[in-house]
Amino acid sequence: MDNILFKPVKIGKYELPNRIFMSPMTRSRADNPENKATPLIAEYYEQRSTAGLIITEGSQVSPQAAGYINTPGIYSAAQVEGWKLTTQAVHKNKGHIFCQLWHVGRMSHPDFHGGNLPVAPSAINPHDHSFTAEGFKDTVTPRALSIPEIHGITQEFLRAAENAVAAGFDGVEIHSANGYLFHQFFTNCSNNRTDEYGGSHENKARFFFETLAAIGGAVGFERVGVRLNPSAHGFFGITIDKETIPTFEYIVERLNDYPKLAYLHLVEPMVPVDNVPYAEKEIAKHFRPRYKGKLIINCGFRFSSAIRVIEDDLADAVAFGHAFISNPDLVERIRHGIDWSRWDDKTFYTTGNKGYTDYPRAT
Ligand SMILES: Cc1cc2nc3c(=O)[nH]c(=O)nc-3n(C[C@H](O)[C@H](O)[C@H](O)COP(=O)(O)O)c2cc1C
Repeated sequence: MDNILFKPVKIGKYELPNRIFMSPMTRSRADNPENKATPLIAEYYEQRSTAGLIITEGSQVSPQAAGYINTPGIYSAAQVEGWKLTTQAVHKNKGHIFCQLWHVGRMSHPDFHGGNLPVAPSAINPHDHSFTAEGFKDTVTPRALSIPEIHGITQEFLRAAENAVAAGFDGVEIHSANGYLFHQFFTNCSNNRTDEYGGSHENKARFFFETLAAIGGAVGFERVGVRLNPSAHGFFGITIDKETIPTFEYIVERLNDYPKLAYLHLVEPMVPVDNVPYAEKEIAKHFRPRYKGKLIINCGFRFSSAIRVIEDDLADAVAFGHAFISNPDLVERIRHGIDWSRWDDKTFYTTGNKGYTDYPRAT
């Protein structure tokens, strides 16, 4: 008999055949002037279409939202056409695919913006690195967004969500994790605003909830997922303080006001936080009781830990990242108990098919 990861699960209005989801992963193969998803990108996702749900790599909602070279956009007509190849390829195999909507905020670099500063809640340098056409460069002090600009970015997310649906995606995931724009609003290390977008939990979450409401109103909440990484610490400029986890508790509990939301996607600590004051070490355990809808959990899961987290009812599905890079047939390998191949991190962000579509199937 198949293990519990093969128990069907309903996400939004979709009945999915398994709980083995593909985590969003930037692969930098949109190496064309329009940053358009290519036939090679479609082939990569098609190879992985037995995943219960694929969540694409982050796709920038505007030119300003980009912060890495060769990432695919979802704001222009050409990009919508490009993504259609991917959605058609995945649907041909009866798979399901959501598009991750992305704005990197202060993680970008003036090289992407004709010398202009990247934008953020506040003018605070994350002191990290941006991956530009000339290699890694130090981040700079960004420019604080005005309130009309914040409203404008909400509109860009709304249009990107509509574009995603027009491109044939089954839904969108709002990338509000990993130190990017929404996350920058959530934390004191990146947000010292004194207007209604900073200070209290409610204010720090205001931009996110305004955007969620706009997207859900346009494409339907059952097509919208949300990704959060509450215990992110020590990378991409994010540090935790005593208000961080309470802010995430506020956000997660308020997501219950959107009962049709497709899912909440949480990430366990990406780096050890045992010695980090105020960090929450067990994300699924801490947040599961606070959220009534479908929960996807991610980060570091293997065969037995994935089965356990579902059996313990701490999540409804598990998203796998690295494992899906090097195992296009991860679902079949899990079904038949076949070993997983190791990934090559040197080809994560290169161009071409090497380390991308050339990982063999075992099945
Ligand atoms: C190459 C690579 C690119 C990634 N890009 C994204 C991304 O675009 N959006 C995102 O939310 N997370 C991104 N992540 C994080 C993964 O989705 C996932 O959270 C992480 O790899 C941990 O899960 P795993 O242990 O199963 O790999 C990326 C990870 C890797 C390895």
